[in-house]
Amino acid sequence: MPANRQHPQSQHSRWRALLTSAHARTHATPFYLFSIAPIQDALRELDQHFGALPIRHWLSFKTQPLRPLVQWWQQQGRDIEVVSEFEFLAARAEGFAPERILINGPAKHRWLPKHAVAGLNVNFDSVSEARALAPLAKELNWRCGIRFLTSEEFDPEKPEFATQFGLTPAEAVIVIRLLRRAKVRLETAHFHLRTNVASAQIYERAVSEVAATCRTANFSPRFVDFGGGFPPENVRTRGSKPVNGQFKLEDMAGVYERTLKLFPGAEEIWLENGRWMSARSGVLVVSILDIKERGNVRTLICDSGRTMNALISNWELHDLFTLPDRRGPTALTAIHGPTCMAFDQLARLPLPRGLRAGDRIVWMEAGAYHLPWETRFSHGLAAVLWHDGTSVTEVRPRESFETWWNQWR
Ligand SMILES: Cc1ncc(COP(=O)(O)O)c(C=O)c1O
Repeated sequence: MPANRQHPQSQHSRWRALLTSAHARTHATPFYLFSIAPIQDALRELDQHFGALPIRHWLSFKTQPLRPLVQWWQQQGRDIEVVSEFEFLAARAEGFAPERILINGPAKHRWLPKHAVAGLNVNFDSVSEARALAPLAKELNWRCGIRFLTSEEFDPEKPEFATQFGLTPAEAVIVIRLLRRAKVRLETAHFHLRTNVASAQIYERAVSEVAATCRTANFSPRFVDFGGGFPPENVRTRGSKPVNGQFKLEDMAGVYERTLKLFPGAEEIWLENGRWMSARSGVLVVSILDIKERGNVRTLICDSGRTMNALISNWELHDLFTLPDRRGPTALTAIHGPTCMAFDQLARLPLPRGLRAGDRIVWMEAGAYHLPWETRFSHGLAAVLWHDGTSVTEVRPRESFETWWNQWR
């Protein structure tokens, strides 16, 4: 079948093989299937490009809050980045030592004191946060950082407005002084631009702004934290442009080398790439329930779609394929979920006319920002299957009517 864009066939074959394994083939839809194998590929790729540099990769919890992934990461002795109380508690429950947890995100002074333990890594996001948490940070010997707001961060729809995160240069200078007076271990300069950063130059401009503010404040960080934002391959905007634009990992290696010169006291660069790492690690599988003809468009009604399980399809086009692999003449086909909104449309593209009710549609690149944006709109949450590199098992059952309705007191 014609896919809605060119996607490496090897990726299709990998998912086809997993989806025809005994467990996935008979499992009721809708479900997500996530696999550790693409994450291992991503780590190898990072190693190939950056292996010679002092770089630490933090797992962005929020991007893919998937328990077996978090457990695997913990067993590898790797580090995790959290942005909320729930994520922090989950990281602790899964056995991450405080030294291996980095706390980002806004307004953490509202929840962190309840769970404060020694040895955490904490990046401050505002003046009030730094002021409120400084005594605890000193007492518990936290490794602290501050998040800088750079001029690269703005509302993409209204670029004249800055984002709500981090500290302006003037605030950063105030906070650096405040933390010094409080004798806090201030060691990290952090920024996170946005998701899908389209070129290495954007990172480079941001890091030189941060370096300038650090110079003004006479702050020489041991760690420079670039946040996340690497764009995934094989994902396009709704306007059909690849989201990874001019971005190349080899260019980033140059940015990091220059960053280490820009910050002579820096010992490590920290990265928190979520989407690039995990988008490739999952698929969403839905079944066709019904088919209608609408003029020249075949309209598929499926048991899930954008509203319930793929909100990201509102602004991204992903590759997809069908099970079975139907071939033959195609027709423009709209794939809809079952909720009562025209919005619930996963994609509209030419697909084989031979598709029929009961066939399955596999939406690729569902391993980032699909689980966290899942909804219970008219239905329960989908099942989650996990491939640990050897076999596929169900790690979260489809939500039952009882759980869905009994959440109310
Ligand atoms: C502070 C921080 N780090 C890392 C990430 C991960 O970003 P991405 O998934 O685009 O790599 C985010 C995402 O919002 C973030 O806010």
